[in-house]
Amino acid sequence: MKVAITGKGGVGKSTLSAAVAREIADERRMIAIDGDPDMNLASALGIDQPDPITQETDLIEDRAGSSGGLIQLRPEVTDVLESKSVAFGERGRLVTIGPPEAGGTGCMCPENNFIRSLVNQALDYEDVVMDMEAGIEHLGRGTADDVDAMIVVVEPSQASIETAHQIQTLADDIGIDATYAFLNKVRDESEAELIEDQLALPIVETFGYDDDIASAGLEGVSPVEASPALRATARDVLDSVVADIE
Ligand SMILES: Nc1ncnc2c1ncn2[C@@H]1O[C@H](COP(=O)(O)OP(=O)(O)O)[C@@H](O)[C@H]1O
Ligand SMILES: [Mg+2]
Repeated sequence: MKVAITGKGGVGKSTLSAAVAREIADERRMIAIDGDPDMNLASALGIDQPDPITQETDLIEDRAGSSGGLIQLRPEVTDVLESKSVAFGERGRLVTIGPPEAGGTGCMCPENNFIRSLVNQALDYEDVVMDMEAGIEHLGRGTADDVDAMIVVVEPSQASIETAHQIQTLADDIGIDATYAFLNKVRDESEAELIEDQLALPIVETFGYDDDIASAGLEGVSPVEASPALRATARDVLDSVVADIE
């Protein structure tokens, strides 16, 4: 299962990504990618933050730079997923992309090529969870082909519903077949219905406002450890998506 989780900032992308990733990682070898510049997947998983890839400027220049004359379009990155990731659960590894660095020259090419190679390398794993910012354009068609499903996290707010519409359009453009909404922080049935009426996406699961997650956030504890309900919901999400795309 290769799944991308996206949505507006603050809706619960990293919370859901961490729970889904942990659910898979406790069973199988998998890779989780924090692709949101506002990186917080490591803290949601309750592990140390891996060094953000975009800060590895020497490594990027070395592998993807133009020192030899030509820019390396497909830099060698096989070792990087191991060396720049942190382990979690039974068999998971987390890699963090980090915010764009641009560097002094302003040319992003080596950095972009490096990241694209790294994501493609990660997608060679059987199981991948990507925590992504709302703008998914940078997924690109090549990568989108490898993604089995995309889950858009929506909370009870017009802004997050609007973002979900934009993401759905982008997902259709780049050719992601299976896109779902995950309703989060919903307080009651009528709120869920109100959101549902405004979304064209199928809803994979509806999850309430969870006090365990809220206190975990306040105490700086992983929501995955703190909330059994979140773990159970992540399992349901995985089961539903797997059943749906098969
Ligand atoms: N179902 C929920 N109930 C209560 N708090 C939640 C829930 N889901 C997420 N949160 C809290 O909302 C905040 C944003 O969640 P986060 O996963 O970091 O969002 P994102 O990654 O989309 O920016 C965090 O403080 C998190 O603990
Ligand atoms: Mg996040």
